[in-house]
Amino acid sequence: MQKLVINGGIPLDGEMLLHGAKNSALPLLAAALLCRGETVLENCPRLTDVFAACRILTHTGCRCTMKRHTISIQADALTCSEIPEALMQEMRSSIVFLGALLGRTGACQVYYPGGCELGPRPIDLHLEALRRMGAQIVRHEGRLDCTAPKGLHGSIIHLKFPSVGATENVMLAAVLAKGETVLHNAAREPEICDLAAYLRKCGARIRGDGESTIRIEGVSSLMGCVHRIMPDRIAGLTYLSAGAITGGTVKLCGAAGAQMDNVLPVLEQAGCRIDRTKNDIYLHAPRRLRAAVRLRTMPHPGFPTDAQAIIMAVMTLADGVSVFEENIFENRYRHVDGLVQMGAEICVSGRTAVVSGVPALCGAHTAATDLRGGAALVLAGLAAEGTTEVRQIHHIDRGYEEMEQVLSGAGARIRRVLQ
Ligand code: EPZ
Repeated sequence: MQKLVINGGIPLDGEMLLHGAKNSALPLLAAALLCRGETVLENCPRLTDVFAACRILTHTGCRCTMKRHTISIQADALTCSEIPEALMQEMRSSIVFLGALLGRTGACQVYYPGGCELGPRPIDLHLEALRRMGAQIVRHEGRLDCTAPKGLHGSIIHLKFPSVGATENVMLAAVLAKGETVLHNAAREPEICDLAAYLRKCGARIRGDGESTIRIEGVSSLMGCVHRIMPDRIAGLTYLSAGAITGGTVKLCGAAGAQMDNVLPVLEQAGCRIDRTKNDIYLHAPRRLRAAVRLRTMPHPGFPTDAQAIIMAVMTLADGVSVFEENIFENRYRHVDGLVQMGAEICVSGRTAVVSGVPALCGAHTAATDLRGGAALVLAGLAAEGTTEVRQIHHIDRGYEEMEQVLSGAGARIRRVLQ
């Protein structure tokens, strides 16, 4: 097992290169299953979730090769449309392969990906939508036997909640279905638009992505293409927040199109000066940050749930009281214990967390509980006096490529050690 060891209290001063978006790469890898010919995904992050998705593709018969940050997928000859339970449960978002496999082969067997640290993570919206498109889905304990005897057909679908994954699954099922699919209350996250952009380049007919209603006219086939994955907006916020929490000056490179307009104002209101060029974002932090008054997590374009733990870490050292309301996931305050261990003053009641800024944090031995919660502990460790250890960093490796290398490049004293 590995852990991160951080000697904190040093203002960051330097450049950090932003990797491609995990939450775009994963649905794009599933989408490649739909295409004949070769798909080449550039700017693909080297993450454990991406490697898990590649294992699923290989299992179905795709040729999937990754060289540095470029993945090539050949999906001409699929040989298997069953994804074993072990592969499905390696990551929660594996369910997005259901729509693609059904769309391409008309029948597949997958397993419930299971819950995760954030809560039960149901897939009822996914299954309800696919059934409306003609899929017959029978559950045998954890296994889902899915067929579309007459092929998938377009439908009018209203999502009860703008689920990102369910929106992606409908898009992947609809692009080769017969007729038009109209998806109401669709998720509007930037990663949805990245997926739609790729599918259009492959020949799909999609309109309205990024809005609440997406219209998809099914076509007979799709041809793979070259696509550059958008930058990771949550990793970008994480690295800028490292500059903010340490009172530093950082430059985030490769941030073009990172779509951070709904999170950067939070750092500006806290007193950070942020300047943007075409490709980079500069942040200069004050000595002492101002607290955020109230932050409610909402579907895009609201304040993203993935940013909650990151900004909470920053606010533990800000002047004043910040109130967080987590409205998306049931169990997304698991990082609070680790922050409190480091001296933060946080009180959680149900979906609300009240953070009272303290003058300083002190290093502690902590453990990551989930992806963004683990990143929050690293941020706090960068600012804390003394040494912080963060164990269970496999959570962090799911969504951040070599986080310790990136932060070290901006002057952080952080290293990965075997524990
Ligand atoms: C995606 O998860 C992201 N993951 C999450 O990022 C992100 O937090 C989430 O969207 C919200 O923005 C990927 O893109 C791989 P949802 P997803 O379906 O699609 C409930 C990270 O840190 N729900 O929008 O699983 C669900 O329980 C990860 O990078 C149902 O009830 O999120 C949750 O409470 C964490 N039934 C809420 O909706 C369903 O059928 C949002 O889920 C589906 C979802």
